[in-house]
Amino acid sequence: MHDFLSRLGQNVAILGTQWGDEGKGKLVDAMSEHFDLICRSTGGANAGHTIVTNGKKYVFHLLPSGLLHSNTIGVVGNGCVVDLVDLVEEIDSLESLGLQVFDRVKISLRAHLLFQYHKAVDAEIENRKGAAKIGTTHRGIGPAYEDKIARIGIRAEDLLDIDLLKEKIATNCKFHAQNLGVICDEVAEFERLMSVREKIKPLLTDTSKYLRDAIGDGKKILFEGAQAHHLDIDHGTYPFVTSSNVSVGGIFTGLGVSPKSLHHIIGIAKAYTTRVGMGPFPTELTDEFGNQLRENGGEYGATTGRPRRCGWFDAVVVKNTVDINGVDSINLTKLDVLSGVKTLKIATQYFLDGQEIFNIPTTKKHSKNLEIKYLEMPGWTASLSGIKQFEDLPKEAQQYVLKIESLIGCKVSSIGVGMDRTDLIFR
Ligand code: IMP
Repeated sequence: MHDFLSRLGQNVAILGTQWGDEGKGKLVDAMSEHFDLICRSTGGANAGHTIVTNGKKYVFHLLPSGLLHSNTIGVVGNGCVVDLVDLVEEIDSLESLGLQVFDRVKISLRAHLLFQYHKAVDAEIENRKGAAKIGTTHRGIGPAYEDKIARIGIRAEDLLDIDLLKEKIATNCKFHAQNLGVICDEVAEFERLMSVREKIKPLLTDTSKYLRDAIGDGKKILFEGAQAHHLDIDHGTYPFVTSSNVSVGGIFTGLGVSPKSLHHIIGIAKAYTTRVGMGPFPTELTDEFGNQLRENGGEYGATTGRPRRCGWFDAVVVKNTVDINGVDSINLTKLDVLSGVKTLKIATQYFLDGQEIFNIPTTKKHSKNLEIKYLEMPGWTASLSGIKQFEDLPKEAQQYVLKIESLIGCKVSSIGVGMDRTDLIFR
């Protein structure tokens, strides 16, 4: 691990390369104790990491999961959307497990607040879309970002001016009630927020300045990505995406730090592919084998409990992420889940009307006509449990990893072979 970390430099980002749930939390957890600050730059409580350690189950939605290590400080950047009441609950539930968190969290004054009405709007829009729904987490993420972009959003700093805050909440409640007919109780919203105001106030920080100073002082920063590149509002499978820039650019805008302060980008890729929610998924397996993969990999959403859709590893998807984000190295997760699969398949190329294309077509018509070229490889039967060296993996597993590496054009520098934080092979 130390060897691996020393190659990365001061500040490191961890990004999902597929559709989320690649197992980012595990690497963050394994690396965090070697960092001073762990930052979230985009999204909200739509993310979910559950970490079980010493028999205790810690659940993180909005807070960076790196907070599990008591030496770290967690930063929630200006690019995030935050339900402060849910955040206090998340902090309280971690504290009830004996983890001191309150004095280790900084929330950007510029972070946008997420209200109950955003959740109601999220559910209402999904409902109206019927079969065309996105399959959101119903956490109000899209509607909170809509308010931000429409320039009617309410920010954390508004907590410091109660009269104006009350007025803004009333205006937004009326607007959403009129627009979509959702129930917006402006008094309840205001009081709900007031119930946590005093607890939250000390956490509010000019996080951009705080981070710039920390970087200047040589502190080590881990940028903990949420969701994944193919859920990015611009680069993902629009409209089946989340509502923020979860690819690398979101780190700089979502935290107010310079691109020059990032020294290494780790992409997390599952050894197969999963997706929750609707939207294109070229290598999806809808047969019995897909179900088996779901059970073997425990593929159920951490935030919503929904069964994840499962499919073969898609090198086109991951290469697209590597190229756009400038990913420096890959952490390949859950290789152990593939033990016992007789023949493995990897999608290597896409063609549309005989022409090679390099990303997923987002129109329905083109999605339907997509031709996928697969490569087949022999699988392995042995369990990978306890293996610490790449050379000790079954030959076929080594070949699978090396093939992925050459197809995506990026080194696989760590490999997950089990549930525990120590079940990692570094190369
Ligand atoms: P939203 O972010 O709740 O608006 O959901 C938009 C899409 O992103 C849906 O397909 C969700 O299932 C997906 N999504 C959001 N957060 C996550 C995540 O943390 N992991 C995997 N998928 C996610």
